Amino acid sequence: MNQLQKEIRRRRTFAIISHPDAGKTTLTEKLLLLGGAIRTAGAVKSRKAEKFATSDWMELEKKRGISVTSSVMQFEYNGYKLNILDTPGHQDFSEDTYRTLMAVDSVVMIIDAAKGVEPQTIKLFKVCRDRGIPIFTFINKLDRQGKEPLELFEEIEDVLGIESYPINYPIGMGQSFRGVYDRMEHKIEWYNDRRERQVQDLSEVEAVTDILKGKLDDYTLSQLEENLLLLDEAGNTFDFEAVTSGKQTPVFFGSAISSFGVPTFLDHYLKMAPDPQPRKSSGGFVRPDDKQFSGFVFKIQANMNPAHRDRVAFLRICSGAFEKGMTVYLDRTGKQLKLAQPQQFFADSREMIDEAYPGDIVGLYDTGFYQIGDTVCASKDTFNFGALPQFPPEHFAKVRAKNAMKQKHFLKGVNQLAQEGAIQVYKTPFEETILGVVGTLQFDVFVYRMQAEYGVDLDIERMPHQIAKWIVSREDAEALRRNANNLVVSDYKDRPVIIFENDFSLRWFTQKHPEIELRDSSHNI
Ligand code: G4P
Repeated sequence: MNQLQKEIRRRRTFAIISHPDAGKTTLTEKLLLLGGAIRTAGAVKSRKAEKFATSDWMELEKKRGISVTSSVMQFEYNGYKLNILDTPGHQDFSEDTYRTLMAVDSVVMIIDAAKGVEPQTIKLFKVCRDRGIPIFTFINKLDRQGKEPLELFEEIEDVLGIESYPINYPIGMGQSFRGVYDRMEHKIEWYNDRRERQVQDLSEVEAVTDILKGKLDDYTLSQLEENLLLLDEAGNTFDFEAVTSGKQTPVFFGSAISSFGVPTFLDHYLKMAPDPQPRKSSGGFVRPDDKQFSGFVFKIQANMNPAHRDRVAFLRICSGAFEKGMTVYLDRTGKQLKLAQPQQFFADSREMIDEAYPGDIVGLYDTGFYQIGDTVCASKDTFNFGALPQFPPEHFAKVRAKNAMKQKHFLKGVNQLAQEGAIQVYKTPFEETILGVVGTLQFDVFVYRMQAEYGVDLDIERMPHQIAKWIVSREDAEALRRNANNLVVSDYKDRPVIIFENDFSLRWFTQKHPEIELRDSSHNI
């Protein structure tokens, strides 16, 4: 095994997805603590606070008390190198969140034991399932009374449509929560009265409930016995292939706030989760251990530091080793670029780096070279990873500059902010600008940034529309445009998109035009 292969094998690049408040920040923090990347609890939140303080436009975030942007954190644990890509879980999240999921090899889904599967989790989950990437479930807040584990499995299977396999099972819940039983390794992770963690291996013949006799009340014990038996006899069998292809999710129970179950979760996760995987390109699959360096830009963030007006392009490395100062080609323009000042992101800092490997995320200073979805490669005219899909926006608004003299700045701002990918821009046949966003907060961010960064005051007019569909055939689009009742617009690549007010009007349309093929995203159009 060469150096490159060794580095690939120890990398795990993943995102944590959840509905707001399920415990994503808390779990991230506990993982960073385990890896020694931070020393005190609370550091992740204070890091957020620091970022607010240094960034002007994030004033807006501060006011609303949420995080609009997602970041990347790298740390080491037990010889592994982990890259966590943060995805904001707030209701008003953006396309950025979805795109981040294009750059990971697996996902950790957190579910609040009391709330079960929530709407935001469903949305994010669907993106992961469509990509067929492995999903690991962490059911959190077991220190509080929540739904019964069996009910939660059923919910995961029914609502999300994925098989579940509990790797561990909780011993008690809420007040009586004592730890977890590891079904895979036949071990008890147990917390004594002083809340000290103890791990007890069981012999082949020992039943978990025998060990626990006298330590749990009779009811909890008999429930545990019954449920474990039920799972063994009627539950799913563990299927590694199915896990790898995202058809079965290993389930873990724990309590992030007290770290219950977190170390075991991480150990199992690291063993089961894939290292960086080959990626489809126009020239076939690109293997991570191909010597030739390649990667793609999945996120651009402008004005990270308002004093410098800088943009950072986030590049996911797909193959080969990255070296500081290397020259690469940008597939879209054919231009040669020097990758100067590359940065990597750690829990509490960004640092210049000299080398990085597949699975890693590198931040590149960008003076306007990059766009989301760009492929960079060490040689010219080789392959590209294809455009990243655009996700269907759910809110629309017409925008224009209040002052017509500012039209040039307006267009520049719209273009640059659209390139970051948090908003989608459409043009009507009358050259009006329509914004489409996944979460309405993006409108506020857009208005604010256009003013703060481009000096343009906007008139913004919300539209009643909710659904955008890409029209596969251009002839169909032309025919539809002739009827003024249809709102057919063009996306940034001039692909036709039809916008509907609601499900009812969409259904009515598809019944009337069963021959017209519509797509949810621009993927493969
Ligand atoms: P998020 O990033 O997914 O939005 O969730 P976050 O980690 O911020 O957690 C949301 C709330 O849930 C926080 O409480 C957090 O302390 C709590 N929490 C996280 N994990 C657990 C757990 O295992 N058990 C219990 N009981 N609570 C948990 P908060 O009051 O909103 O914030 P804070 O004041 O504690 O920071």
